[in-house]
Amino acid sequence: MTRIIQITDIHLTVPPTKVSGQLNTFALFEQAIDKIEQDLPLFGDVDAVIATGDITDYGDEESYQLFKTQIERLNLPYLVIPGNHDSRDAMLTSFPQLAGGTEHGELNWVETFSAFDVIGLDSIIPNQGGGALSDSTLQFLKRALASNPNKPALIALHHPPFESGIHFMDNIGLKGADTLSELLNHTSREVRVICGHLHNSIVCSLGNTTVLSSPAVASSFMTDHRPNAPAGFTKKPGGYMLHEWINGFRSSYLSLSTNGDLYPF
Ligand SMILES: [Fe+2]
Repeated sequence: MTRIIQITDIHLTVPPTKVSGQLNTFALFEQAIDKIEQDLPLFGDVDAVIATGDITDYGDEESYQLFKTQIERLNLPYLVIPGNHDSRDAMLTSFPQLAGGTEHGELNWVETFSAFDVIGLDSIIPNQGGGALSDSTLQFLKRALASNPNKPALIALHHPPFESGIHFMDNIGLKGADTLSELLNHTSREVRVICGHLHNSIVCSLGNTTVLSSPAVASSFMTDHRPNAPAGFTKKPGGYMLHEWINGFRSSYLSLSTNGDLYPF
């Protein structure tokens, strides 16, 4: 059994700075860690937590230190990949375990667990909202997939390789999703792809592979597919995901609002 918790889009800032003048993301993250800590006994042993990008809002080292003070309360190993709000340099300084990725500066890595490998991919284009999978990152993925052809793989990248229907986010989507799809269609491994970026929970097919985006810690984006939908966020409580292997991948959505009372049948 392997169990991985996914959190995403925390957008940490150093208090009293608020994201968009509205969100005290440090307080939201503290509350999220409290909620995950409360939920943990319900899951069985959890192997690690992965944060799938936009860990900070400004990519500053102080915010990464705040991240560490909170995530370490869970007493679990943790993994990180960058999002468009993050900084590769500040992440390398803050998380020395990231050193040794590809030689092209991207923060790509593989972590091995008993039931599946987790492959972290760096999809950012520095100083841009949209993302891309560079040739070197695709080569890294190809090698990683070939290295253990029979083991399932959970692939994590910040930008989702699908159209969400949320237009202001699709405008800063991922370039190169077709190449990823082709690569995954040719692997012998069972793969699930997990992403952040959309502040919304969406499940899609990418060729033969199931891809999903996790809700965010910081805020929520509306499911509003109208072409003229306003760009913005709501303060609706976000969520997180639990990814496990039970003769196949199982991904469960967990809310970050309180569970409330349990009423017996
Ligand atoms: Fe985000």
